[in-house]
Order: sequence, then C-alpha cells, then structure tokens
Amino acid sequence: MTPRPTHLFRHEHRVIEQALRALDGMCFRLQAGDDIPVEALAQALDFVQNYADRFHHFREEEYLFPALKQCGLEEGGALHFLCDEHELERELLAELEFAIEEYRYGDSDAVRRFVEIMDRFRKHLIGHMQKEDTLLFRMAEDLLDDDAKNALMRNLAVEGVSRKYERLAADLEKAWAI
Ligand SMILES: [Fe+2]
Ligand SMILES: [Fe+2]
Repeated sequence: MTPRPTHLFRHEHRVIEQALRALDGMCFRLQAGDDIPVEALAQALDFVQNYADRFHHFREEEYLFPALKQCGLEEGGALHFLCDEHELERELLAELEFAIEEYRYGDSDAVRRFVEIMDRFRKHLIGHMQKEDTLLFRMAEDLLDDDAKNALMRNLAVEGVSRKYERLAADLEKAWAI
C-alpha cells in the first residue's frame, strides 16, 4: 500500500489535541485559584511552540502545501488562508509566552491573561485542524499521485523530535487533563 502522508499529519493533530486537553485542565485549575508550577506551564509552551508550530506547521508549509501547489491547488485560496491561520497562532503563542513570564514574576493579572489567550489559541487551533482533517487532507489524498506521496513521505521521515514530543504530550495529558 502506498504510504499516506496525510496519516502522519492526522496523527500529529491527535498528539496536539492531547496537549490542548492538558492546557485546558491547567486553565481550569488556575481559574479555580490553584497554583500551577511555572515549569509545567513552560513545558506546555515548549510543546505548542516546538511541536505544534515549529514541527507540525513547518512540515505543512514546507512540504505538504508546496506539493499541493504543484498538483494545481491554487496558492491564493485554501493554502493562503491556512498559512494566515498559522501566523495568527504564532502571534498568540508569543503572547502566551509573555503571560507565562508575567506569571513567573507574580503579576496579579497574569492568570487572567494566560487563560484568555489560551482559550483563543485552543479554539483557533482546534478549528484549524478540523478544516485540515475534513477538507485539506481529503483533497491531498485525491490530488497527490503515488510519486508525490512517496516524495512527501521521504521528507517527513524524521523520528527523533516527534517521539520526544509525543511522550511529552502524553505526560502532560496524564498530569493535567480533566
Ligand atoms: Fe495547519
Ligand atoms: Fe495541521
């Protein structure tokens, strides 16, 4: 059976959802007045910055989207829209990092800011992944021929980073998801 790059991307979405459930649990506890060690927030930030964005989004932008453009998918349409969504998520992550630093130094408003930004980030990213799962990856299955899928699989075959962050997502979910 021809390898299917969309399986890898869908799997990465499921890993990201594990970390989002953990972050949701963190927000719930913070709103309830619990203290959360800043190291745990920093670990969750490490995941969303380095796996969700610099690993997963990077792989979509660097390999999947260009392969789809080569097969005739219009650059100005869905792909442009999805890249814009990645950019907005990057901006929210920068704000989230700042809110964690404020929390570290005891700013009294930091919890409210963290929860508010996290809520926007989570909703946005979940909606984004749903669009890719239900529309983009289906289009990719139809548009990419076997050669294009094989070439993509060669570009996507990097295991080390992925394993490390899959473990982190599972640990975070176990510790914090409600
Ligand atoms: Fe994406
Ligand atoms: Fe994605």
